[in-house]
Amino acid sequence: MPSSLKNDRLLRALLRQPVDATPIWIMRQAGRYLPEYRKLRELAGDFMTLCKTPDLACQVTLQPVERFPLDAAILFSDILTIPDAMGLGLSIIESKGPMFEYPVRSAQQIKKLGIPDPETDLRYVMDAVRLIRKELDGRVPLIGFSGSPWTLATYMVEGQSSKNFSVIKELLYDQPQVLHELLEKLAQSVALYLNAQIAAGAQTVMIFDTWGGVLTQPAYQEFSLTYMQKIVGQLQREMNGQRIPVILFSKGIGDMVIKIAETGCDAIGLDWMQDIAQVRSKVGDKVALQGNLDPAVLYASPEVIKKEVGKILESYGKGSGHVFNLGHGIHPEIDPEHVAVLVDAVHELSKPYHRES
Ligand code: CP3
Repeated sequence: MPSSLKNDRLLRALLRQPVDATPIWIMRQAGRYLPEYRKLRELAGDFMTLCKTPDLACQVTLQPVERFPLDAAILFSDILTIPDAMGLGLSIIESKGPMFEYPVRSAQQIKKLGIPDPETDLRYVMDAVRLIRKELDGRVPLIGFSGSPWTLATYMVEGQSSKNFSVIKELLYDQPQVLHELLEKLAQSVALYLNAQIAAGAQTVMIFDTWGGVLTQPAYQEFSLTYMQKIVGQLQREMNGQRIPVILFSKGIGDMVIKIAETGCDAIGLDWMQDIAQVRSKVGDKVALQGNLDPAVLYASPEVIKKEVGKILESYGKGSGHVFNLGHGIHPEIDPEHVAVLVDAVHELSKPYHRES
């Protein structure tokens, strides 16, 4: 472990090495539930300006780390930076979510797509990573991330968030080879993008497969898992003598979660529908597990939050290999005081699970 890192709990837990307490970070920890985030976003004017201005992206990344004793920072950006760099024209519209001006649907449109060069086309992301590492000054590790090829493809083909994924599923069933061509390009793009984040200073990386769970089990394996596995195989796994752990998260995939352990990743992110004890008993010592408190628990009282934290810690059980998180992103209406209760509860209540005996 580089001596410059003052808190290495996250990296240790991801590699299933002993820790003094269970580390915690929160999906979407920098976001609208924080008044200081809302203020900076208003100042920037819109979400993409926040992402594309390294100084602002750095400030936003640090906000939750300065407010709570979290064990990691996550790069402030979005998974849709890759399709944006491919020329699809992204805007994130308040109350509507992401929208693409130029969705891709035909074989011809997909053939024309280029693979973005991270240090030129996505330079703003790499500059943000470098700046954040400097400003963090070793307080906690920095997590880099990307969307999975399948999840990126859903937005690129549908053109926006979707309820029933009719356009991309029509493509999947009618012209699977065309979809495979798109996923192949995305897998190459994601591998280059994550390796560039690692070179710029990301100390662990996570792939978000938010929509893996809308597929049938065989389709999940063919159109989502295969491409994540390809990416894992291409990632730089060591930097300056330090192992770079890889976390894969597919939401809503039920029993298929066990298959993720075979991809060569270091850790699996679990949504709140999973039973963490059951998953641990099936994957054994192969990978670490991250999760999986229901994000809605944070609406409840501090007493209930502590009780629910206790249940998940008990369910995972003794020993390292657990990174506490929510089962999906934090909701914008959550009271930041409840997040403070959550973070303290994880650190306090987890200590007995890491004592020898
Ligand atoms: O976790 C973090 O704090 C890092 C930042 C982060 C954002 N998006 C910031 C963001 C991360 C890791 C993401 C990933 C992301 N983006 C995913 C995968 C994770 C997941 O939640 O399943 C997806 C599917 C997207 C695409 C996306 N970006 C959507 C659907 C939206 C709208 C969401 C909403 O609640 O309005 C965004 C915008 C977005 N990305 C916001 C943030 C903080 C809200 C934008 C705003 O400030 O208005």
